[in-house]
Amino acid sequence: MANVIARLDDVTLSYGDRVVLKKCSLDVVEGAITCIIGMSGAGKSTILRLLDGLRKPDVGHVYVRGHDICHMRESELIEMRTKIGFAFQFAALFDSMTVGDNISLPLREHTSLSEDEIREIVVHTLDSVGLAHTYDNMPSELSGGMLKRAGFARAVVTNPDLVLYDEPTTGLDPIVTHLLTDTIKRLRQQLSATAVVISHDLQSIYMMADYVAMLFEGAVIEYGTVEEVQRSMNPIVQQFLQGSEVGPIPL
Ligand SMILES: Nc1ncnc2c1ncn2[C@@H]1O[C@H](COP(=O)(O)OP(=O)(O)OP(=O)(O)O)[C@@H](O)[C@H]1O
Ligand SMILES: [Mg+2]
Repeated sequence: MANVIARLDDVTLSYGDRVVLKKCSLDVVEGAITCIIGMSGAGKSTILRLLDGLRKPDVGHVYVRGHDICHMRESELIEMRTKIGFAFQFAALFDSMTVGDNISLPLREHTSLSEDEIREIVVHTLDSVGLAHTYDNMPSELSGGMLKRAGFARAVVTNPDLVLYDEPTTGLDPIVTHLLTDTIKRLRQQLSATAVVISHDLQSIYMMADYVAMLFEGAVIEYGTVEEVQRSMNPIVQQFLQGSEVGPIPL
C-alpha cells in the first residue's frame, strides 16, 4: 500500500454562499505526481490552497503528513509550508529584484544559511531548471516560459518534499510546455518529492501523471492511473477528455 502524504477527507468549502467543494476526498500518494483536472471554476486551485494551509475547510479535514491543518496554529502552518513548494499560476516574482534575489528570498527568510551558501544553492537550482545564466537578470527580461521556470526554482529552492503546481503550462507554446513537463518530472526525481499538478493540458498530463483525479461539481468523480482514467466508463470523464460539447457536462 502506497504512503499518503496528504489527504482531503470529506471536505466542504464555500466562498460566501457558493459551495465549491462538497464532501471532497482525495489521497495524495507520496513520491507520485498527481494531476488534478476539471472545468474552470471546479475548485482545483482551492485544493492546492487547502494543501498549503492557506484555507481551511468549513467541514471535513485536511491532513498533511498525518497532521490535521485545522488544528494547527499559525506558527505550525508556517513551519509546515517551509516543506511545501508552491508554483503559482503566475510566477509572481518581485519585479524590482533580480531573478537570483527572488529565488534567494525563501532561503533568506527561512534558513540561517550564509550568503555564500545561499548563492551556491540558488545557482544550482536555477541550473536545474535550465536558467543558469539568468541570475543577474530582472524578471522583465525573461520570456513567459522562463518566468514559469523561475517560479519553479523559487518553489523548490528550499528542498520541499511536496510541490504544488498551479497550471504550470497554461498559455505556453508546445515546445516550452514539453520542457516544463520534463522539468516537473526531473525535479520530482531530484527532490524525491511528491507533486500535485493542476493542468488543462492533457498531453502533458499523460506524459507525467502517476495518478489523475477529476474534480466535478465539488468532488473527485474519477481517480486512477492515466490508463484507468482514460478507460473510465463515466460519461462526464469521457466528455472532458475528448473535449466534446456533447454530453452530460452543463456548458
Ligand atoms: N477568494 C474567493 N472568494 C470568492 N470566490 C472565490 C474565491 N476563490 C475562488 N472563488 C470561486 O470559487 C470557484 C472555484 O475556484 P478555484 O480557483 O478553486 O477554481 P479552479 O478550478 O482553479 O478554476 P480555474 O480552472 O479557472 O483556475 C470559482 O467559481 C471562483 O470564482
Ligand atoms: Mg485555478
